[in-house]
Amino acid sequence: MKLHSLSAFLFVSAALASYTKNINYRSPSEHHPALGVSIHKVVKRNNPASPWDPSKLNFTHGVASGDPYPDSVILWTRIAPSSDNDKSNATVSGYVPLYNHDTEEYIAVSKAPVCVEYKVSTDKECGDVVDSGTAYTTSDIDYTVKVEAKNLKPFTQYYYQFSVCNSDNKSPLGRTKTTPEADDDVTSVGIAVYSCSNYPFGFFNAYGNPVRKDSVDYVIHLGDYIYEYANGDYGWGQTIGRVPLPDKQIYSLYDYRKRIATYRTDLDLVASHQQFPWIPVWDDHEVADNTYRDGSSELNNTESSFVEDGGVSVDQRKMNAVRAYFEWMPIRQVEMDDNLRIWRSFSIGKLIDLVMLDTRQYDRSITDLYWNTDYVHAISNDAGRSLMGSRQEHWFYNQLTSSQKRGATWRVIGSQIIFSRINESLAYGDDNPFDYDAWDGYESNRNRTLSLLYNNDIQNNIFLAGDSHASWVSDLVWLGEKSYDKETGEGSIGVEFAGSAVTSPCPYGANISLANANNYSTWLQNANDELQWQDLYYRGYYELHFTSEEVTANYFGLPTVVSRNNWEIPLANFTVKSGANKLQRPIAGGVVESGSVKGGKTVQTNLTIDTGNGTWFVSHADLEVL
Ligand SMILES: *[C@@H]1O[C@H](CO)[C@@H](O)[C@H](O)[C@H]1NC(C)=O
Ligand SMILES: *[C@@H]1O[C@H](CO)[C@@H](O)[C@H](O)[C@H]1NC(C)=O
Ligand SMILES: *[C@@H]1O[C@H](CO)[C@@H](O)[C@H](O)[C@H]1NC(C)=O
Ligand SMILES: *[C@@H]1O[C@H](CO)[C@@H](O)[C@H](O)[C@H]1NC(C)=O
Ligand SMILES: *[C@@H]1O[C@H](CO)[C@@H](O)[C@H](O)[C@H]1NC(C)=O
Ligand SMILES: *[C@@H]1O[C@H](CO)[C@@H](O)[C@H](O)[C@H]1NC(C)=O
Ligand SMILES: *[C@@H]1O[C@H](CO)[C@@H](O)[C@H](O)[C@H]1NC(C)=O
Ligand SMILES: *[C@@H]1O[C@H](CO)[C@@H](O)[C@H](O)[C@H]1NC(C)=O
Ligand SMILES: *[C@@H]1O[C@H](CO)[C@@H](O)[C@H](O)[C@H]1NC(C)=O
Ligand SMILES: *[C@@H]1O[C@H](CO)[C@@H](O)[C@H](O)[C@H]1NC(C)=O
Repeated sequence: MKLHSLSAFLFVSAALASYTKNINYRSPSEHHPALGVSIHKVVKRNNPASPWDPSKLNFTHGVASGDPYPDSVILWTRIAPSSDNDKSNATVSGYVPLYNHDTEEYIAVSKAPVCVEYKVSTDKECGDVVDSGTAYTTSDIDYTVKVEAKNLKPFTQYYYQFSVCNSDNKSPLGRTKTTPEADDDVTSVGIAVYSCSNYPFGFFNAYGNPVRKDSVDYVIHLGDYIYEYANGDYGWGQTIGRVPLPDKQIYSLYDYRKRIATYRTDLDLVASHQQFPWIPVWDDHEVADNTYRDGSSELNNTESSFVEDGGVSVDQRKMNAVRAYFEWMPIRQVEMDDNLRIWRSFSIGKLIDLVMLDTRQYDRSITDLYWNTDYVHAISNDAGRSLMGSRQEHWFYNQLTSSQKRGATWRVIGSQIIFSRINESLAYGDDNPFDYDAWDGYESNRNRTLSLLYNNDIQNNIFLAGDSHASWVSDLVWLGEKSYDKETGEGSIGVEFAGSAVTSPCPYGANISLANANNYSTWLQNANDELQWQDLYYRGYYELHFTSEEVTANYFGLPTVVSRNNWEIPLANFTVKSGANKLQRPIAGGVVESGSVKGGKTVQTNLTIDTGNGTWFVSHADLEVL
């Protein structure tokens, strides 16, 4: 071999290594070239003799980290010649046309790939570097960068930063944290839980408050991280300067990239990603409303609905949405062969096993599409129906069993939708009193889960849910099968904490009054034995704090989301003692700020809110008009 061809060979393999460092080339799957991005083609197309001027590149959307393990964590950034997203639809045929942002034309050959370095350190000054590396990105993956930081120590806080190779162009400094080793005795872990962040409905203040308080270790998002609608169809973005782009219903890869990118301009979302490692899953709106395995609410799989719905099949739309999601979210590619798979689990010391489900996109049987509610109601108790598909269900039950075997104190299940049976005939009428788009539409799947828990005496189960835009706290019970005492909680096998939306509106009326909301909450609480606290009025989030003795859940309500502010109201606090498998009585200590609590009262105290212009004492009524 002649020397010059040897060095060319060395260059190519070094370059290939730096391409493969960027996990996003392998999304959704390296093993299926027809679905992934062919790195060989990218290398061939990119011209190393025409490098980028580092001063023309920007870290356009901050940094993020996620899917923490005891020795590694995923780091994310985007370094691009333009804040706009790449328009070259990565196609399933494997050929990716390239877009030149200056001439707005598709071109065959681009400049060199963008080269970035990253450093992970125990200190803010990045003096004690414990891991570092080089990665490439190109327009093929929207100039996103996703790398796995390795060689880390368990349950340790780290700082990280990206920089353009051979330049002073640096990203913001990120902070992250690994999880404890599975057999570590950790004393306490805090997690903030979110769902339903809709950009045109308000500012994502809920994301920023735990950053400002520095009150948790990790963030869980249960889905509806973005919404697919045109602003005019769902939202009042015009009035608050938050119209999400592109300003239309989204279908193409560019559309999904642009939509996530718009959301990621919210300063509180950026701050949360920068400070906390996230563990997110999607719900329906990351693709489309009420998606299931074979469709969505606007896609009947009839020809006319197909034409009306952008002429994009549900599979094609899902692939676009999923590709953009994996490019932009700081998460691992769970299984390379299974490109729709996001369900995965985390062991957080001896304290917690966290099981994140996909009850929505992966393999869900037909759901409520609004025009078929009677039909879905009629089949809701059909033994063949599943929210997850048999593959995921078996995995889920094995996770629960092996978690009990290994002796983890708490089993935490991240579900998109509400698990408990909730009679909402007040809103839905007597014919179809349940939400058949939640677990209530999939009774056999719920029964299989409950039967596993009860029959194997699997205890300390904490279910989490989003999706509903309201707060619901319930004992976890098998109504109609196991006896249950709503006063003492006897007969329960755990607890469900379902949280309100970051901004999506109240399901009982977008601009509902506090009095009306609390009136409905009282009805709901009375109509459902296991529902111990309910609140409809407040947008917000909750924090879970785990120790080996107990879990506490602190619910926070946001007085207003039509402006950016740090105001929040502690709405209610709950305790679950280890081994009790039910909410501690009296529920929430007998007093909540809003909504309706069993065996207790709602007392609206006047609140001290720092408005930034001096302390301000306000009643809930004052807050309503903000
Ligand atoms: C990069 O960001 C700077 C500062 O925000 C801005 O002035 C500049 O136009 C940006 N450059 C590009 C290529 O987006
Ligand atoms: C990308 O996809 C969108 C929607 O499917 C389409 O309108 C657009 O023309 C496509 N762009 C290219 C370059 O193929
Ligand atoms: C889907 O089918 C139902 C029942 O035929 C119909 O009522 C509904 O309008 C259809 N939706 C679309 C988007 O075609
Ligand atoms: C689920 O359990 C409930 C309560 O025992 C029962 O009424 C229902 O028929 C069961 N459904 C299925 C499909 O097992
Ligand atoms: C509800 O509140 C939003 C935000 O303040 C406002 O833009 C919208 O017009 C209100 N809607 C109604 C029906 O009052
Ligand atoms: C409260 O809700 C009930 C339904 O539970 C309704 O009949 C009543 O009119 C409501 N009261 C007020 C003051 O809105
Ligand atoms: C729902 O609750 C209402 C009020 O308590 C009750 O009248 C109705 O029978 C309940 N529906 C079902 C299916 O339990
Ligand atoms: C809940 O706990 C917080 C402390 O985390 C406290 O400030 C707040 O007053 C409590 N709220 C209620 C309603 O008990
Ligand atoms: C402080 O801010 C609040 C909320 O924006 C406003 O209503 C109030 O008038 C302000 N007070 C002063 C003294 O400026
Ligand atoms: C709460 O504040 C309101 C006005 O903001 C006032 O009318 C009321 O008296 C206060 N209540 C208490 C208990 O201080």
